[in-house]
Amino acid sequence: MLEQYETAKKYAQRFGQEHVLHFYETLSEAEKAQLLRSIQQTDFETALSLYQKADVIPAPPGEIRPYSAVDKSKLSKAERSHYADLGLIAMAEGKYAAVTMAGGQGTRLEFDGPKGIYDIGLPSHKSLFEIGLDTLKRKSLQIGRTIPWYIMTSRENHTAVEQFFEKNSWFGYPKEDIILFQQGALPLMDFEGKVLMDNPYTIKEGSDGNGSIFRAMRQSGAAEDLKRRGIEWFYVCNVDNVLANLADEVVLGFAIQEGAKCVSKSVIKSHPHEKVGVFCYCNGRPAVVEYSEITKEMAEMTDCSGELVYGDSHISCTLFHTNVLELDGVLHMPYHTARKKVPYLNENGQKTIPSDVNAYKFEAFIFDAFQFIDSFRVFRIRREEEFAPVKNKSGEDSPETARKLYLDYYGEGGPLDAKNKSSNI
Ligand code: UD1
Repeated sequence: MLEQYETAKKYAQRFGQEHVLHFYETLSEAEKAQLLRSIQQTDFETALSLYQKADVIPAPPGEIRPYSAVDKSKLSKAERSHYADLGLIAMAEGKYAAVTMAGGQGTRLEFDGPKGIYDIGLPSHKSLFEIGLDTLKRKSLQIGRTIPWYIMTSRENHTAVEQFFEKNSWFGYPKEDIILFQQGALPLMDFEGKVLMDNPYTIKEGSDGNGSIFRAMRQSGAAEDLKRRGIEWFYVCNVDNVLANLADEVVLGFAIQEGAKCVSKSVIKSHPHEKVGVFCYCNGRPAVVEYSEITKEMAEMTDCSGELVYGDSHISCTLFHTNVLELDGVLHMPYHTARKKVPYLNENGQKTIPSDVNAYKFEAFIFDAFQFIDSFRVFRIRREEEFAPVKNKSGEDSPETARKLYLDYYGEGGPLDAKNKSSNI
């Protein structure tokens, strides 16, 4: 243990973080071992370099131009059915997988557990995970083979997610076709560049953002698993969208026909300040400006017919070709800095709840990958068919609004109800 201690101390000192060992002598043997492990797995180098740039005023975003989406509702019946046929063939050949991002913390929902296990109060009381899985079960039945489902978890919730699936016998889906993989984490830093402690033997860390998905897929072996199975396409959705269709043959066929390596879905914003990112071109490359970073002027800009100029919103339903996992840009995505109010352990060993923001959190955003992908397209779909997010405990984007949208669209039987013949499923 002494040797491990010395190594950890040197490592922490190298980045000015020796305070993490402040309580070491007071800890039990098990706690000491946990702290040394926590230090060893913390990426101080990345966190510190991000801290050093945290207050640098970002360069102006460059030239921003509107993006034109392909509107699914304007396709002819023949085009839609051609895309659907192409998509179904690729699915039936085993070239397709779904990916759910479930590594977030669900803070706004005030739910203390993995968001995927949350029950939005449907008559069936299905969790968010099971709601998503139903769309895969339906398509798997239709094509005659099981569609593999990859789920991105975090260091914090991985075990709880795994236990949830185990306890529920993987919801009757073949266990080998539900693949959990973990994303990375970064420490939370105070404004003096010191990492915060959660307790005397644990560094406070948070997931490093959903943009780390590509690196996580590579590092966890999920990318290798896709290759082994002969999968060419993966479709990534948020865990909190109860209308996300995890197996949409139309978008898949569209990508194949168009030779696009990435297609991201949009819906028209419900109002200028809806909390969604918007598609645009930035310096000639496809981009999304996040709701937390958009200017009032850009959010409210309208054209001569009164429509929002930046009205196509990112709903985080994106199809990627597996070649994207080879791109250097997507494996080294930029980080965004957020200032957060984070409870921490103070130097006297007391748990402290700050009254104001006190920490930097660094996160990569999935849509920053779009700029690196040639042949990127945006596919506009109808909100009531595919977008019902659960973000807040009440009000807009809450379990109540999502439940209503889900029941309006699917009815109580959900996607597995044989009577449900909607075009979306
Ligand atoms: C996200 C999008 C936003 C979009 C909106 C639609 C990002 C960065 N922003 O915003 O453009 O308009 O959804 O609802 O994607 N997650 C992880 N690991 C993390 C962080 C998040 O897996 O480290 C997952 C969450 O579990 C969730 C998804 O990513 O499934 C979205 O995360 P969230 O923080 O809720 O993003 P929003 O702010 O809602």
